[in-house]
Amino acid sequence: MGWCCCSRWLSQSRLTIGVSVSPFLSTARSCSLSFSSNCHVSSSPQPTLQQQPPLTRSSQLVALEYADLNLSCNLDLGHVRIRQHVNPLSSSFSVPAQVPDWNQVFADPTLPLMVDIGCGSGRFLMWLAKRTPKERNFLGLEIRQRIVKRAESWAKDLALDNIHFLFANATISFKQLVESYLGPLVLVSILCPDPHFKKRHHKRRVLQKPLVGAIVDNLMPGGQVFIQSDVLDMALDMRNQFDEVEALKHIDFLNLGHSAMLCDSEGWLLSNPMGMRTEREIHAELEGAKIYRRLYQKHM
Ligand SMILES: C[S@@+](CC[C@H](N)C(=O)[O-])C[C@H]1O[C@@H](n2cnc3c(N)ncnc32)[C@H](O)[C@@H]1O
Ligand SMILES: *[C@@H]1O[C@H](CO)[C@@H](O)[C@H](O)[C@H]1NC(C)=O
Ligand SMILES: *[C@@H]1O[C@H](CO)[C@@H](O)[C@H](O)[C@H]1NC(C)=O
Repeated sequence: MGWCCCSRWLSQSRLTIGVSVSPFLSTARSCSLSFSSNCHVSSSPQPTLQQQPPLTRSSQLVALEYADLNLSCNLDLGHVRIRQHVNPLSSSFSVPAQVPDWNQVFADPTLPLMVDIGCGSGRFLMWLAKRTPKERNFLGLEIRQRIVKRAESWAKDLALDNIHFLFANATISFKQLVESYLGPLVLVSILCPDPHFKKRHHKRRVLQKPLVGAIVDNLMPGGQVFIQSDVLDMALDMRNQFDEVEALKHIDFLNLGHSAMLCDSEGWLLSNPMGMRTEREIHAELEGAKIYRRLYQKHM
């Protein structure tokens, strides 16, 4: 039980997006993992089914998938519970974040940049950053300050010099951040941006028209936008906004000699093209939810 995630994972990882600026090709990962604790997961040579503990909690599943980051458990933020929700009326969320000195936050501030909007814990971005040192910079924008602090501290532990996390309301901060960046913007991801999507809360959605405009305007030719959500309404809302943009096309075919369909009949990508599932994605899929994904590319 539970270990089926590995075979599913392996079959997913064969499906990579074969476009010229494909952000990452998936890497094969070992499935021979067992738990030593909730955070550190160690490899074991040949676990038999009997030896494998049942994956009962999805946080363990997250730890398992992110085992090679070896993140420390002890950053429990001073025993203060991480607040899950933010007060939307708090004034700090209506002031754009200050643009950092890019020379201070990245070893090479001219590298191509990926921005993850609503990056949560930051594990997903750290996983990617670790795989492309000296090739790409990563910027995580997140509105929950405590998890931003923890992400910064983890990135420091990992000695990554190509990642930075910012406490920011992405909706109002994205534009000036990317406009001031010194290299090209190659990829923007918005992954399960808001767990509390309701029609009457449209004003609080992350993805609003000016943000769509800022993403498309700043993306380099061939650059990509990757969106996903386990909430269909949310996914459709984002999809409709990006489908409307003439400068973008949705990537639904894999072109490697022969074409392979990457989407289901509704036009949702069959798998995550990034080579790793986000935490929200892991939790949602464990509960049996479908993830609705789209990958766009800006015209050359
Ligand atoms: C459901 S979580 C998903 C986190 C991560 N992307 C994942 O897939 O695991 C959504 C995240 O978006 C953040 N968020 C929501 N609105 C935001 C905004 N306007 N600016 C920055 N982050 C935002 C939330 O604080 C939360 O951490
Ligand atoms: C993981 O981290 C722990 C403590 O933080 C350390 O003792 C251990 O050697 C690390 N393991 C690897 C494989 O880096
Ligand atoms: C972020 O800013 C936008 C635009 O002002 C606003 O609509 C939204 O409510 C803010 N987000 C939060 C969580 O405060």
